[in-house]
Formats: sequence, structure tokens, C-alpha cells
Amino acid sequence: MPQVLTIDGPGGSGKGTIAQKVADYLGWHFLDSGALYRLTGLAAQNHNVALDDKAQLAVLAENLDIRFELVANDEPRVLLESKDVSLEIRLPEAGQAASKVAAFTEVRDALLLRQREFKRAPGLVADGRDMGTVVFPDAPLKVYLTASVEERAQRRYKQLLAKGQSVKIGDLLQDIQARDDRDMNRAVAPLRPADDAIIIDSSFMSIDEVFQQILDLLKDRDMIAAK
Ligand code: DC
Repeated sequence: MPQVLTIDGPGGSGKGTIAQKVADYLGWHFLDSGALYRLTGLAAQNHNVALDDKAQLAVLAENLDIRFELVANDEPRVLLESKDVSLEIRLPEAGQAASKVAAFTEVRDALLLRQREFKRAPGLVADGRDMGTVVFPDAPLKVYLTASVEERAQRRYKQLLAKGQSVKIGDLLQDIQARDDRDMNRAVAPLRPADDAIIIDSSFMSIDEVFQQILDLLKDRDMIAAK
């Protein structure tokens, strides 16, 4: 059976970077579930579907024509209907749209099987909000990665700046708070640590420290060989 490590947490907690790094290091598959919600939001915009039209959103989610292309030493390239949308889906507006469409059960159900298909040998690192609670409830290691709102806004700011996007830190802070609020308080699959999750607060930790801690946890649970 393929191994599964889930990493859930709020936006900007560093889970995307860490999950990708662990997957690369171990040669495991990587599921960026947030990208699926971001792509659903983008597809809605492209096809003039309103962000509250849950029936049509579910149809779009079910039929998403997407491709993740691996790029050496970088994030995978994301294609929607053959168009490269790697930059577009990372914009704060795409995050807000994702968080809105993600609140509908119909959309979540439409994406469930697609997410589970990422579980392939030798293993999967799944990054999201409900990986440990809903999508992979039997995962032998579940991490909930968090950080203070201020720290998360700073990180997003630096990430976007590095990609040449100019944004205001105050806007990012508001954006993160609005998304936290929506993601944590929705009725379906709200963002919360699974009962058996290990909680890591990365506010004062480097990426490497979090990475090492997760590798140690994987070794402790015999999910990878101790070197
Ligand atoms: O991780 P992210 O910032 O790319 O996620 C974008 C939005 O998608 C997030 O605000 C909530 C939603 N999401 C979700 O509801 N469930 C997931 N497993 C992943 C993301």
C-alpha cells in the first residue's frame, strides 16, 4: 500500500513549500489540493459561472481539464484547458474564489475521487485543509502546520514579490483573515486538525527545521527508513 502523509493548515503556513520539499526528497507523489479549488474558481470565471451557482460549479469541478507538469527544482506548472495558469492561480483573488467554491459540498464531492487518485506507490504527500480529516482519514501521519497571521502574511508577501507581483501587506493580512474565517467556519469539511494530527507551529521555525521534524516523524512511525 502506498504511504500517505497529510499536511493541513491555513493559507501561508508554509505547508505547500514543505509538502513539495518532502515529496521531492522522498520521491513521493504530491497533491496540491488547494490548486484544484483554485482551478475550479478560475474555470468558473472563464465559463461565466457565478461563484454561488453550486450545481454548475460541481459540473465544472467534475470535468476540470487540468494537467500538472513537473519542473525541476520548481513548483509544477499548472495547465487549465491547455493554458498555463501557474501564476494566475496563485493570486489572492484566485485564493478568495477558491475559498468560496470550496464551501459547497457539491464541489467538494466532485473533487474527492480525483484527489484520492493521487495516492500511488511509493507514497503521497497531500497538502490542503481536509486531507487528514476527510480525504485520507487513514493516513498514518497527519501534520497540521500553522503560524501566526502576521507571519503568514509576510510569507505570502515575499512569495508574491519573488514572482514579480506587487501587493500590499495590509491587503494580504485582510485576505488571509477572511479566508481563515471562511475555511474554519464553513459547515462542510472545515479547516481543523484531525484528532490524531501532530500540530506544528512554524511561526519561529525555518523551512528546514519543519522539514527535519517531519522526516523524524516519518522515521519514528517506520514510514521511511531511518538513515
Ligand atoms: O491552500 P490554498 O491556499 O491553495 O487553498 C485555496 C483555498 O481552497 C482555501 O482557501 C480553501 C480551499 N481548500 C479547501 O477547502 N480544501 C483543501 N483541501 C484545499 C484548499
